[in-house]
Amino acid sequence: MSINYGKLVRPEVAGLHPYKPGTTVSQARAKYGLERVIKLSSNENPLGTSPKAVAALAAMGDLQVYVDDDHHELRRRLAEPYGLGPEHVLVGHGSNDVVRTLFTALVAAGDEIVMGDPTFSLFPLDTELFGAIPVKVPLRDGVHDLEAMLAAVTPKTKMVVLVDPNNPTSTRVEREAFDRFARALPEQVILLLDQAYREYMPPNSVEGSDYVKSRPGTIVLRTHSKLYGLASLRFGYTLGDPELVGFAQRVRLPFNVSRPAAVAALAALDDHEFVRRSLETNEAGKAYLFPAFAQLGLHAYPTAANFVAVEVPGTATDAYEALLARGIVTRSGDALGMPGRLRITIGTPEENRLVVEALGGLVPATVAQGR
Ligand SMILES: Cc1ncc(COP(=O)(O)O)c(C=O)c1O
Repeated sequence: MSINYGKLVRPEVAGLHPYKPGTTVSQARAKYGLERVIKLSSNENPLGTSPKAVAALAAMGDLQVYVDDDHHELRRRLAEPYGLGPEHVLVGHGSNDVVRTLFTALVAAGDEIVMGDPTFSLFPLDTELFGAIPVKVPLRDGVHDLEAMLAAVTPKTKMVVLVDPNNPTSTRVEREAFDRFARALPEQVILLLDQAYREYMPPNSVEGSDYVKSRPGTIVLRTHSKLYGLASLRFGYTLGDPELVGFAQRVRLPFNVSRPAAVAALAALDDHEFVRRSLETNEAGKAYLFPAFAQLGLHAYPTAANFVAVEVPGTATDAYEALLARGIVTRSGDALGMPGRLRITIGTPEENRLVVEALGGLVPATVAQGR
């Protein structure tokens, strides 16, 4: 007897393509028999993990005890810098989990979800999972086209998703343009602002929490995966209207943030020294990489995050493979809706130097010399 699971699962699930993470270090090692592999494919913190978070984890005991699922103190601390309260915060197993919870609460079959194209791949995936329709609005020069996104809103639009800075292009929208956009968006449309890379943005960037206060229906996503170096532990959260957060609380899984994740997340908030060093490293990386790309004749979108989207000679897939063979793991733009470019995390000075050297090896000598 055989069973046809394809017919048993929901039609939305049968048609779904799973989220594709980048190549892992062990996969890269195995493929090319490499000793040293540099992973610049997932925009992780090149300095590692917040030492305060590590110390707090090491001091933990009593893992047999369920976590206090309210996470009141953590939520209070997360909201405090923005003049918001714990009631504005929904925590989750990474911000991906928070997105899934929000979509479970909000998104119904037939709803339209407006988003940039390309943008973070989880958004089209979750939209399709709930039988909703992703309305994909092409970026303009790698930047969200806010006017076109506004024009794409219809009476069926449940939500507009804006990833700022955007993944995979690393770009941000201008504050004034965003302000006009947020004001023009119909009242009943949810504005989901994914700011996973907010801390890396230059001054005068969009601060999502301002809109949580001024525009009902605005939800901001934040994560500890990037700046605090806690991607592996999984911790992310929202800032949003308490009533909406209350609805989302009804559908989240119990204990969806483990005690180690909560303890580390709280400790990391006090690690000002690690934050300072991380931001400094990122700024130094930008200052080195952009002139180096220009020297090689490779265009990169201006970055507001901890990664770059750089043009490569030939196809992105070939460039990705050539760098992988040298022990540098990046993401091919071909897999991210960004052909002709690689997405590369800004690393340590040494890692950045190796990236430039490897990219230099792809550029025909005449081009590099002519610049
Ligand atoms: C735009 C964006 N949002 C969210 C995430 C995922 O965050 P988390 O690790 O908190 O689930 C990422 C990670 O790459 C991202 O690029």
